[in-house]
Formats: sequence, structure tokens, C-alpha cells
Amino acid sequence: MIRSVVRGFGTALPKRVLTNAELESMVDTSDEWIVQRTGIRQRYIAGEGETTASLGEAAARAALDKGGLTPADIDLIIVATSTPDNTFPATAVNIQNRLGMHHGFAFDVQAVCSGFVYAVATADAYIRGGLAKRVLVIGAETFSRILDWTDRTTCVLFGDGAGAIVLEGQEGSGTTADRGVLTAQLRSDGAHREKLYVDGGPSTTGTVGHLRMEGREVFKHAVGMITDVIVSAFDATGFSADDIDWLVPHQANKRIIDGSARKLGIPLEKVVVTVDQHGNTSAASIPLALAAAAADGRIKEGDLVLLEAMGGGFTWGAVLLRW
Ligand SMILES: CC(C)(COP(=O)(O)OP(=O)(O)OC[C@H]1O[C@@H](n2cnc3c(N)ncnc32)[C@H](O)[C@@H]1OP(=O)(O)O)[C@@H](O)C(=O)NCCC(=O)NCCS
Repeated sequence: MIRSVVRGFGTALPKRVLTNAELESMVDTSDEWIVQRTGIRQRYIAGEGETTASLGEAAARAALDKGGLTPADIDLIIVATSTPDNTFPATAVNIQNRLGMHHGFAFDVQAVCSGFVYAVATADAYIRGGLAKRVLVIGAETFSRILDWTDRTTCVLFGDGAGAIVLEGQEGSGTTADRGVLTAQLRSDGAHREKLYVDGGPSTTGTVGHLRMEGREVFKHAVGMITDVIVSAFDATGFSADDIDWLVPHQANKRIIDGSARKLGIPLEKVVVTVDQHGNTSAASIPLALAAAAADGRIKEGDLVLLEAMGGGFTWGAVLLRW
């Protein structure tokens, strides 16, 4: 059985750091409120010349280097983003060109904060279906460009960045002892659209629009949806919370992360947290956190790693993989 195994990982962050203290001079907020309600201490904000594609390209190059690979070794690029450089062509195609890659194929997936989980699930299906051998899976965002910087209820929460992994098809035994993606569980329910959306778009207003969110409503649904889809991942593999070496959650809010881990019975020492440093970088948050924990030696070969996310749509999902 073919398994999609992580071969490399990499990240890229904008140069500029925006601290909570700086936000205090922009909107009526405080470092204390932001830290207490979200766990966020700072975020990175893209400057001139920094875009979703440029950050995604840098993360992709780092992931290729880490895996000892070049663009010639890749046959598919999937970019998870809700903040593309252009409405079209896809940011994935833009990054393909930036990498000097003119073979294979590339496309974007749009599942907001669940985008990276959706992209990994998609890459895994292409690999196991024999349609691709090595896939660059990138989560890249510049949410700073769709924020309403006068709305304190949203602008303090998000940041920019990119993370990437290379998934490679390798022969496995078909058991859950294999390295690679062991299960991917995806869900969506469009009935929740109004709770987290962008109030513009090419086919409605002809503008890009701004992010709008009923934060309390999102919070109310988040823990239940996340734990539900993780239980599905456990059911599909026979694992339980006790078997997990690392939980790498979408980094939206420390309270949602802690609440989900507690409900599942996963000790907080096994949870990778970067939301304090990055804020919510939407589709980029999981690969940024994953790379941080892999780079500093916390995640080791053979570890059972659980990824989960929930976001606009609503969309939600989980991936269980062996590193
Ligand atoms: C947004 C969020 C942090 C707000 O925390 P909360 O505890 O629910 O706070 P509330 O929305 O109830 O607001 C409490 C008060 O703080 C105020 N407030 C909101 N933003 C503030 C800010 N940045 N600074 C200071 N005060 C703020 C509100 O106006 C409200 O004041 P009021 O009681 O006088 O009306 C929280 O709801 C959340 O994290 N939701 C999930 C959001 C999310 O993760 N979305 C992305 C999913 S991918």
C-alpha cells in the first residue's frame, strides 16, 4: 500500500513583527485582553513586496532543501490559501513558476483555516491514486490584507506567514505501523457561513472585502467540531488519545486549543502551540507549528502526529500521520 510520507518541511514569515503593544495604539485594546482571551502576544505582517506567493515560495524552497529535493522532483503543488495574490491564476501556479518548475501541475484549495488539512488530504488521495509521486503542500496567507484594521474584534487575532511540507509516496505495509498519512477526515457545513466570512468577492461586490466574524459563535462550535472529527480519526485507525505523541492544532486561540485537548484527554505537554508568536495565520498555522516542533526535535521519526483545524464555512478536519 502506498503511504504519503513527510519528506521535508519549511516555513517563511514576513520581516515585520506587530506586537500587542503596538496594536494598543491602533485600536481600543490591551495586551492583557489579547493575551488572556487568545494567548496571542505578537504576529507577523507582510510588508511591501511580501505576498502569499512570495512567502509560499520561500517555505517551499525550505521544505525542498530539508528533504534534499529540487523542484524537478515534484509533480504536484497544492496551495491552501484564502488570500491569493490574484483571483486567478492560482497561487500554486504562481509558486510553480517562481520555482522555475514547468512540468507537473498545481492548484489551490480554499477551506480557510482548515485549508492545510484539506490540502494534505487531497495530496494523499492523489499520491495513493497514483496521480502524483511527490507533492509540495503549502499553506500560505496574508490575512493582514483582508482585515478591517478599525475592528478590534478581528484585527488583533490574525497574522501572515507560510509553511510547507513535501509528501512522498512510499510503499507501506498497510498497517497503522506505517509512516505517512494514516487517515484524513474532512467535514463542512455551509449553514454557518455568516459566522465567519469575507464581505466581498469577484462575483458579488467586485471587491476583495474584509473579514467579518461573530467570534463568540465560532468559539461555541469550535471545540465540539474539532473533537468530533478527531474521534472519527481514532475510529478509522483504532488509535486513542493515549497513543498520540503530538497534537498539532490549527492555531486560532489558546483557549480553543486547550479546551479541545482537555476534552480529548491529550495532555497539554503533547500539544504544539505557536499562536503566541504567529497569531492565527489560517491555512499556514499548522505547517508553521509542525515545522517548529520538527525542527527543534520534539517531533521525531515514528511519532504519531495528529493535525486538526476548524474554520470559515464552517470547514473542519483532522489528519493522523506517522512522522
Ligand atoms: C474573538 C474572541 C477572542 C473574543 O473573546 P470572548 O471571550 O468571546 O469575548 P466577547 O466577544 O464575548 O467580548 C467580550 C468583550 O470584549 C470586547 N472586545 C472585543 N475585542 C476586543 C479587543 N480586541 N480588545 C479589548 N476588548 C475587546 C468586546 O467588545 C466585549 O465587550 P462588551 O462585553 O462590552 O460587549 C473569542 O470569541 C474567540 O476566540 N472566538 C473564536 C475566534 C476564532 O478563533 N476564529 C477563527 C477560527 S479559524
